[in-house]
Amino acid sequence: MAAEPEEQENQLSEAQIAVHWREEETYPPPDSLIGQANAADPAIIERFGEDHFPDCFTEYADLLTWDTPWDTVLDTSRPPFWKWFVGGRLNASYNCVDRHLATSRNKAAFIWVPEPEDQATQTITYQELYRKVNEFAALLQDYCGLATGDRITFHLPMVPELPVAMLACARLGVIHSEVFGGFSGTACGDRIADSGSRILITMDSYYRGGTLVDHKVKADEAIEAARKLGQEVDKVLVWRRTPGQYASKSPMVEGRDVFVDEILGDYRGKSVPPVSMPAEAPLFLMYSSGTTGRPKGCEHSTGGYLSYVAGTSKYHLDIHPEDTYWCAADIGWITGHSYIVYGPLLLGTTSVLYEGVPVYPDAGRCWRIAERLGVNIFHTAPTTIRMLRKVGPEEPRKYDYQFKVMTTVGEPIEPEVWRWYYQEVGKGRAAIVDTWWLTETGGFLGTTLPALQPMKPGSCGPGALGIHPVIYDEDRNTVEAGSGRAGNICIRNPWPGVLQTIWGQPERFVDVYYRKYCADPDSKDWHDWPFLCGDGAVQAADGYYRILGRIDDVINVAGHRLGTKEIESAALTVEEIAEAAAVPAVDEIRGRVPELYVALKPGLRAGPDIEQKVTAAIEREIGKIARPARVWIVPDMPKTRSGKIMRRVIAGISNFTDVGDISTLANPEIVDEIRHFVQGDKLAKGEVPRELSPQEAEEIRNFGKTE
Ligand code: WT7
Repeated sequence: MAAEPEEQENQLSEAQIAVHWREEETYPPPDSLIGQANAADPAIIERFGEDHFPDCFTEYADLLTWDTPWDTVLDTSRPPFWKWFVGGRLNASYNCVDRHLATSRNKAAFIWVPEPEDQATQTITYQELYRKVNEFAALLQDYCGLATGDRITFHLPMVPELPVAMLACARLGVIHSEVFGGFSGTACGDRIADSGSRILITMDSYYRGGTLVDHKVKADEAIEAARKLGQEVDKVLVWRRTPGQYASKSPMVEGRDVFVDEILGDYRGKSVPPVSMPAEAPLFLMYSSGTTGRPKGCEHSTGGYLSYVAGTSKYHLDIHPEDTYWCAADIGWITGHSYIVYGPLLLGTTSVLYEGVPVYPDAGRCWRIAERLGVNIFHTAPTTIRMLRKVGPEEPRKYDYQFKVMTTVGEPIEPEVWRWYYQEVGKGRAAIVDTWWLTETGGFLGTTLPALQPMKPGSCGPGALGIHPVIYDEDRNTVEAGSGRAGNICIRNPWPGVLQTIWGQPERFVDVYYRKYCADPDSKDWHDWPFLCGDGAVQAADGYYRILGRIDDVINVAGHRLGTKEIESAALTVEEIAEAAAVPAVDEIRGRVPELYVALKPGLRAGPDIEQKVTAAIEREIGKIARPARVWIVPDMPKTRSGKIMRRVIAGISNFTDVGDISTLANPEIVDEIRHFVQGDKLAKGEVPRELSPQEAEEIRNFGKTE
C-alpha cells in the first residue's frame, strides 16, 4: 500500500535537506593580488590532486625545520588513528621563534593592541618573544615541575602572555589546553579535570567593552569544579594585566596562587633548549563546542598540525613574511591557535592581537587599527561583519587602509553581508577567502586560493589543497555536484591537520567522526574511512560547496528540512534587518514551524511593516513552507562571548521551556527582556504551546549547539 503523502515526506532521509538557495554570481580575483600571490601558478592545484596523495603534503612539511627527517609520510596501520611524518622530530617553539632570529630578530612577531585606546600598543619582536618564551619555559619547568607530556590549562584573555605561554609549553613538549577566557569558571574546571591538569594559568583582569573585567574570580570556581570531578590543582599562576597592580576581588590563596610578575625575575636571561618531539606527539588540546556530555578534547599533533597550518596560511591566506596580518578572532578558539599564533609565526610574519570588542569605543575602531598598523590581511567571522555593518555601514570609507585578502570563518555568510564586506570593507579591491573548517580539523577544509579561484558569495569554495570532500546521503550514495540536493559533507582522505583522537575517549573519536560512513571497520585502507564533518552541504555544478550549517541546526517543517541559515539569509535581504535567527517552535500540525527573531539597524523603529517585509522575503526566497509563524523584532540577540547567536536560548523562549545555562552569554540580561516581550504577547493571544515531551524539550535545549 502506498504511503500517505505526508508519511512519505517524513521518510525523507535525514540528510536530505531541502535546498532553496539561488546561485550567486562569481567575482574574479583582484589583479593586484595575482601579481604577488604565493599560489600564483595553477599547477599547484594539480600537485595537490588525488593522484599525489599523500606525498603532496610533504610540500607543507618542508615549510618547517625538522631536527630529524620523517621516514614515512602517512602511516595508516591503525585506522582511523592516522600518523603523519612518522620518524620525524621537531620543536614547535623553535619553528615559530628561534629559526627567525637569524633574519628577522627585530621584526615584530606580535603587535598587541589593548582595548583602551589611550593605552600604548605593545610590539614584541621575534627576539623579545624568544626571551619571554625561554624565561617562561624555565619557570614552568622549575617552579611548576612540568615535563614533556604533562597537560596544563590556561584560562587567559587576548593578551600577549597567552601566546608566550603556548610557545613556552611547546618548547618543553608540555601539552597546552587553553579555555576561552569568556567561558565560565565551571566550564574551565570541567576541562581542567578532563585533561588532568595540575596547573592553571590565569590573569587577574582584562578590558572588554570599556570595563575592566574581574577574571581571577573564575579561577576559584574552576578549581572547585575540577576538585568535584576528582582533579586537584596545585598551582595557579596569575598574570596581572598591569604588573604590580592586582585588580581582582578574589583573594590569592597562600601556597597555591602566585603572581607571575613577582617570580619571573628569577628566570631572567634563562634559556631552555627546545625539546625535539616526535611528529605525532600531541601539541595541544582544544575542547570543541557542544552543550551536552563530557567535553571533547580535540588532540592536535606537532608535525602534521604545524605543517598543515603553515601550508594553508601560506597558500590560502596568502601570508608573506612582509605582511601585517590581523585575525580578530580569539586565541581561545582553534582559529586563534592555527591562524593567530602557529600559522603566522611559522611563516615569520607580523600578527596583530587585539584585546577587546571590535566596536569599542565606536564603529571605526577596527579600521583605525588597520590604518595605523598598515594591516593588509584581515580575518574575521560573519557575526563580527554583521555587527560592523549594523553599527557603521559607511565607516570603512573614512579610513585609509587597504586589505589584499579578507577572510570569513565560523558560519555560512549571508550573500548580502558578503557583498557589504567586499564593497565597503574591501573597497572592492580585496579577495574574500571564505574558510570552512572545524575545531577538529586543525585547518581549512573548504576554501579558495585567492589569486587563482573566483569568489562566490555564501559558498566557501572547493576543497582546500589536498582535501577531497564528498557529500553522502543517508545510504552512502554520493550526492552529485549540480544535483541541487544536499547531504552530509565528509572528507574522503586523511590530512595532516586532522585531530588525532579525543583526549581519553578513543572510542568516541571513532564513533563521532568515522562510524557513520565507514565501509569496513576492519579495513586498513584509508579510502574506507571518510571523516564525517557534521555539516549539511550542497555542491554546485562548478564544484563549489555551500555549507548549510550543522546537521542539528535544521528545522523540520512538515517533513521539509529547512536550514536555519537560508531562512536567516532571506530575512537579511530586507534593508532594515541587521541580524536574524530562526528557531523551531513546536506545532501540532506541521511538527515544527520557524519563528524568526530579528534585530534592526540602528535608528530604525519596529513596526508591522517590517514584519511583513521579512515574511514576504522568506516566501519569495524560499517558499511558503518556510514562512515564519512569528517575526519578533528584538533589540539584540543573546550571544556568546565569541558572538555566536545562542539559538537554543530563544528556542526555549518561543517554546516556553527552560532556556538552560546562560552564564556564558555576553549579554545575559537580554534573555529576560526577550522572554517578557515574546511570552507576554503569546499569553495575551492564547498561543501557549502544550507541554513538550522530554524528547522535544531535549531537541529545543540542544538546538543550534553553540557553546
Ligand atoms: C562549524 C565548526 C573552524 C573555526 C571556527 C568554528 C561552521 C565554520 C564556516 C564557513 C560555513 C562554517 C560549520 C562547522 N563553519 N566555518 N566558512 N562557512 N560554516 O569552529 O566551533 O568547531 O565550528 O562551524 O558548521 O561545522 P567550530
